[in-house]
Amino acid sequence: MAEAPLIRVEPPGPVARSIIDRDSKALVQSYVRWVPLVVKEAHGAVVEDVDGNKYIDLNAGIAVMNVGHSHPKVVEAIKRQAERLQHYSLTDFYYEEAVTAAEKLREISPVNDGKVFFTNSGTESIEGSLKFARYFFGGSRQYFIAFLGAFHGRTFGSLSLTASKAHYRKGFSPLLPGVIHVPYPYPYRCPFKTDDPLECGQAVLDYIEEWIFHKLVDPSEVAAFVVEPIQGEGGYVVPPDNFLPGLRKLADKYGILLIDDEVQSGMGRTGKWFAIEHWGVKPDIMALAKAIGGGLPLGAVVIRGDIASTLVRGSHANTFGGNPIAVAAMSAVIDLIKEEKLLDRATRLGEYTLKYFNDLKEELEIIGDVRGKGLMIGVELVKNRKTKEPATEELAHVIEKSFKRGVVVIGAGMSTIRIAPPLVIDDELLQKALDILSDVIREENRQLRP
Ligand SMILES: Cc1ncc(COP(=O)(O)O)c(C=O)c1O
Repeated sequence: MAEAPLIRVEPPGPVARSIIDRDSKALVQSYVRWVPLVVKEAHGAVVEDVDGNKYIDLNAGIAVMNVGHSHPKVVEAIKRQAERLQHYSLTDFYYEEAVTAAEKLREISPVNDGKVFFTNSGTESIEGSLKFARYFFGGSRQYFIAFLGAFHGRTFGSLSLTASKAHYRKGFSPLLPGVIHVPYPYPYRCPFKTDDPLECGQAVLDYIEEWIFHKLVDPSEVAAFVVEPIQGEGGYVVPPDNFLPGLRKLADKYGILLIDDEVQSGMGRTGKWFAIEHWGVKPDIMALAKAIGGGLPLGAVVIRGDIASTLVRGSHANTFGGNPIAVAAMSAVIDLIKEEKLLDRATRLGEYTLKYFNDLKEELEIIGDVRGKGLMIGVELVKNRKTKEPATEELAHVIEKSFKRGVVVIGAGMSTIRIAPPLVIDDELLQKALDILSDVIREENRQLRP
């Protein structure tokens, strides 16, 4: 694919406009849609639209295309499998492709003696995780503890945990009973009003133990904590270092399970296979989707062996989970992350990007916080460093202006630029994208303080 960025016609061009018009008539309009990008094809870290514009991809199709778009080895695995067997439900029969993919996943997963259940999406992986946790306790523990700012999906169970934006839940109540939300330790905006990250992490743990467990629900009735090791949709928020190890301890103290939602942060995105490994914590159940299918709809739950062994025949199943083509792509993705050393690449490029934005923060008041691990990086914009008022409109401008200059990027939380390119992005392309982004941020900074 020719060099990006390359803007031939100001987007949306004529072809894009006509497709968007048809979309508005044929599809429900409940989607979010940040920019009018109508994709025709994508390769590596470059996306081409229907009018021939080429963009540098800082989204990876929302943390999905970690090994890059149309990687020849993934394409080959899909083609080979499509020619042999497309579907034969794993619920009722067996096929080797699913076993091979599950073996590969077990090998890289931090879950003890993990057993795999395949799903079709992130939300379905969360639904399965909730069911497995309740089932393990024979229904005697009904409660789940989730975190404010979390995003776990949009079906009823997962939406009951999701608390990143109130309008995601608005109009859909009543949701699942038995979900208790507690603050997430967001170091830049600690709900407990401290600027010390470790104090913030400890305050959250103390709040759960001293307040929730004493005043609201006995811990013996809690089945699981459901947590994103790095909050995604909620703002690319990295918790302080004491939080996840402390949560693990709290879980162990009260016999509560730890469900780790790695749907967005998993599969090498943060420079480790799974983000929770940055803190040396082992979850009991891990929910996956997005990047594991290399672009095909696939999710998985990895369940601690002794928890999985409680599941009797017929207790949970689905028709499409572990579809042969999707798991063939997944095996190729795992092999590729190893072969191309993408964990190291994500770490190196991530460190570079963090430094780049931290340097820019020295210069530009509009940048309030820069955080992340590997290539999961958030740059939070504020109108004012002292009040930390979120620069929401400015974020929208940054996204729109970057798009017009050939960089596709979206936001997270209230005013955070979400940087999550394919891990294969080459150094030069990343540099170009960062330079365009910084130009655009600089412009917004000037507008804020003329
Ligand atoms: C952390 C996390 N969990 C769950 C989900 C839901 O995944 P899906 O959109 O595949 O249902 C998402 C989606 O963005 C996510 O980021």
